[in-house]
Amino acid sequence: MRTPMVAGNWKLHNTRDQAIALATGIKSQTSDVTDVEIVVAPVFTALNAVADALRGSSIKVAAQNCYPQAQGAFTGEVSPQLVEDIGCNYVIIGHSERRQLFGEDDAFINRKVHALAETGLGTILCIGETLAERESGQMFNVLRRQVCEGLKGLGIESMVRVVIAYEPVWAIGTGKTASDQQAQESHAFIRSLLDELYGAQVAGATRILYGGSVKPDNVDGLMAQPDVDGALVGGASLKPADFVRIIKFQKV
Ligand code: 13P
Repeated sequence: MRTPMVAGNWKLHNTRDQAIALATGIKSQTSDVTDVEIVVAPVFTALNAVADALRGSSIKVAAQNCYPQAQGAFTGEVSPQLVEDIGCNYVIIGHSERRQLFGEDDAFINRKVHALAETGLGTILCIGETLAERESGQMFNVLRRQVCEGLKGLGIESMVRVVIAYEPVWAIGTGKTASDQQAQESHAFIRSLLDELYGAQVAGATRILYGGSVKPDNVDGLMAQPDVDGALVGGASLKPADFVRIIKFQKV
């Protein structure tokens, strides 16, 4: 009932030409995929070109960030409306790199959630605990805070365009993946929070992606977990063969 989503977060990589080549390579190797929603998230400077290159295909395009205002004196920022204007479908917000390196807190991320709800764009809201938080027994509190504060005030009608990405910070770019059981435990908890906030129907319909060192050799086990509905892939999404193998995960 939940269409799996595999999203590639290209982070700060690829020139415009490299991004077009990567996108078209993925497109040509996934024309047979009908049951997985594929998303790529290029750097801002390549977003327009990649959106153009993928127009007419079923592959969706995401921005990696946005500012929660439509326009104005906000030097250096990009609004959801402008992202939508060039044909994007989603915006990733709350990524741990933005939280840690750029000081974004739950209140600011919540403003982005609301700004995106004003548009036709989908939201991929990233959450996840650090190693210190996990080891000190704070994981569930942190996830609760990130979900409740992140979605604060968002009406139930907007949830249809929200995807949650659980990315334990200690698994990002480290080669250290959460075990299948660790991922399932967190995903089930996140779904229970959605149930508390929005009820069983929304909880059952909302996709929860796992992110953090997803690779061809661990995707099948992760995707076999009942509450894992897809993957948000960093490093491996820059390698076409790896990303395509992740998209074509095996049902075990
Ligand atoms: P890696 O797959 O490189 O660990 O990155 C995960 C990530 O941050 C996706 O948003």
